Amino acid sequence: MDVAGWLRSLGLERYEAAFRENAIDDTVLPSLTAEDLKDLGVEIVGHRRKLLDAIGALRAGSDASAAPPNVLPTIGGSREDSAERRQVTVMFCDLVGSTALSARLDPEDLRELIGGYHHRCAEVITKAGGFVAKYMGDGVLAYFGYPRAQEDDAEQAIRAGLDLVRAVNSFAASRCRIGIATGVVVVGDLIGTGEAQERGIVGETPNLAARLQAVAEPDQVVIADSTRRLIGDLFDLERLEPRELKGIGSVRAWIVLRPGRVDGRFEALHGASLTALVGRQEEIELLLRRWRRAQAGEGQVVLLSGEAGIGKSRLLVGLIERIASEPETRLRYFCSPQQTDSTFYPIIRQFEHAAEFGHGDAAGARLDKLDTVLARTETSTEDAALIAELLLLPNDGRHPALILDAQQRRQRTLQVLQTQLDVLARQQPTLMIFEDIHWIDPTSLEWPSLVIERIRSRAVLLIVTFRPEFDPPWEGQSHVTTVTLNRLGESEVATLIAGVLGNQALPSDVTAEIVERTDGIPLFVEEMTKAVLEAESEGAARRTVAKVPAPAFAVPQSLHASLMARLDRLGPAKQVAQIGAAIGREFSHALLASVALRNGDRLNAALDRLIEAGLVFRQGRDTRSHLFVQACSGAGCSLWHAVASTAPRSALPHCQGHRKRFPGNRSKAPGIVGASLHGGRADRASSDALGESRPAISCAFCVGGGGVAVEPRARPDRELARDARAAPRADQVPS
Ligand SMILES: Nc1ncnc2c1ncn2[C@@H]1O[C@H](COP(=O)(O)OP(=O)(O)OP(=O)(O)O)[C@@H](O)[C@H]1O
Ligand SMILES: [Mg+2]
Repeated sequence: MDVAGWLRSLGLERYEAAFRENAIDDTVLPSLTAEDLKDLGVEIVGHRRKLLDAIGALRAGSDASAAPPNVLPTIGGSREDSAERRQVTVMFCDLVGSTALSARLDPEDLRELIGGYHHRCAEVITKAGGFVAKYMGDGVLAYFGYPRAQEDDAEQAIRAGLDLVRAVNSFAASRCRIGIATGVVVVGDLIGTGEAQERGIVGETPNLAARLQAVAEPDQVVIADSTRRLIGDLFDLERLEPRELKGIGSVRAWIVLRPGRVDGRFEALHGASLTALVGRQEEIELLLRRWRRAQAGEGQVVLLSGEAGIGKSRLLVGLIERIASEPETRLRYFCSPQQTDSTFYPIIRQFEHAAEFGHGDAAGARLDKLDTVLARTETSTEDAALIAELLLLPNDGRHPALILDAQQRRQRTLQVLQTQLDVLARQQPTLMIFEDIHWIDPTSLEWPSLVIERIRSRAVLLIVTFRPEFDPPWEGQSHVTTVTLNRLGESEVATLIAGVLGNQALPSDVTAEIVERTDGIPLFVEEMTKAVLEAESEGAARRTVAKVPAPAFAVPQSLHASLMARLDRLGPAKQVAQIGAAIGREFSHALLASVALRNGDRLNAALDRLIEAGLVFRQGRDTRSHLFVQACSGAGCSLWHAVASTAPRSALPHCQGHRKRFPGNRSKAPGIVGASLHGGRADRASSDALGESRPAISCAFCVGGGGVAVEPRARPDRELARDARAAPRADQVPS
């Protein structure tokens, strides 16, 4: 493989020389780690993430990100081991009036036009992380969430839809209709052979997307209710009159009007229905102490880290509530997963938000609003001209013309920001919040670095939030405090569940099940509780706990994409994860080896990767014979349930050799497989199926009549889970 070409396909050709000089060829590339990338000089977090994702795809043999948009990736080797259950957002785009065009145009011209249109579509879709699965004449079918999941698949699909409408409009003045739907599908079975080979997806979602496309007006993006539920207030929507769709029945659907105005992912996704803050007293107290110091002119920085959904943004809302009555200027910067390469993105958004730009505002009105904001910081007209240009506002003569090159422009912009901050901090204490800095673009990253240098003797508290993959370069300075948010304790989770329930109630065993499954991650607690509430009745919820899983305890739709994104990053270890998950909470090396049918080194490498990702723990030292336990750290358990629910039947080969070990249970086998496949409940369901033998037997599953036994278990689940929980971190809140 051509490593230079691979880098170019990722838009990261700047690292070609470093890769060449360090002898990174195609044999080494798949095993590069984040540390290696740092050594290679890849300092920008977004680039490291991009490279690691692409390396993960390489390991999986898919190399999806490097493939040209119209080339279907090959995942795994055979037809059998590539099919997968996943949540996918499907988009259909159709060119309007192509029949009329074909009557009007010479066939050669028409072919050229359709080719250009396909190319535009592919550009827009791949840029948004989607995958063009098929061209059907003037129709385009695209997937978001396959072959690589992103946590914001649904949002990306809609943004791509809106961009497509614009792109097609500007291309030969054409128009298109777009339909989008989200759902669980079986994806990846190969259809056809050779050049004509494609990966089909099976499920009602593609049909729904196709039908919605058909009811859309020209230039409209119409989304299914399943997609709408994942996007909060990220977009302004208009309800489509309920209508009967052929072969589907009556559906609720929405027209996407434009991106929403709510600032920040947290507000857009959770803002309207916040549950009361649970726990986090120590962290709030710490933030308040830092705020008091900042108020006294002793500038402070808090680096707030924690995994997705742990409550970083919620904690900040808690702080803001506590200081609501105090004089304060607030500057909020939001980084976005879609804008990691967009220069000064969070800064531009901050100005737009502060100036309260409306959708319909003309350029003149925007300039007026911007001038009003800038007047508060006594900004000169030269500096105002710079900011107006940054916001892409045309100069109507009110500002002097600036002649600066890109470098000068960048430096001047940073100077203006510093001057403004000085003025603001002199007026009153200023709270600066930089959210999700792991997604920051390289130019903007200079801004918090400068702030941290500058605010030691200014009335500013800077709080920076990020996920653990970001390595902040500012630690160790006396005015910088690092706080890592840990999972909530069991009683706090119970309180959070009660908060979500309001005046509704759940049986105590259902609550206990949610506590156990959600690992103290507040996002999971909320989503799982809501999903259970949505189950039609208490009876349905109770049945799910007692026996085989039902939709109520499946991984909630809202969590699928982010969990699958983590799973996809595992590369070849993903299939081992799927098999392990289907076996249950515990599995031995020997059993896994016999089911996975992999050679020892490959299996051990895959297990090491799962351990490194915090998804399994090894019990005992001997890698060959000891027991592995699914991690209950971080998103471990929830991810594990997602893993189990993605495992295709083909991931569980027949295991005739084990059949004799449970001769009496063969008839119950299919139910066990169903349990493991559809809700990650192999452990409990299997034990139920085995009746009295629990807890002597950990779990078992069968495929096609073949049974597999897991080693006898010495200790019950909870004890093992507790050990696993105790194993990783013990972060402390600084005083
Ligand atoms: N301590 C808490 N009490 C009550 N609700 C909480 C708490 N922590 C988090 N939540 C809720 O859990 C959900 C996820 O929290 P939040 O969005 O703050 O996580 P995050 O760490 O910012 O995640 P991300 O990395 O995705 O930004 C939100 O709906 C939030 O309101
Ligand atoms: Mg957040």
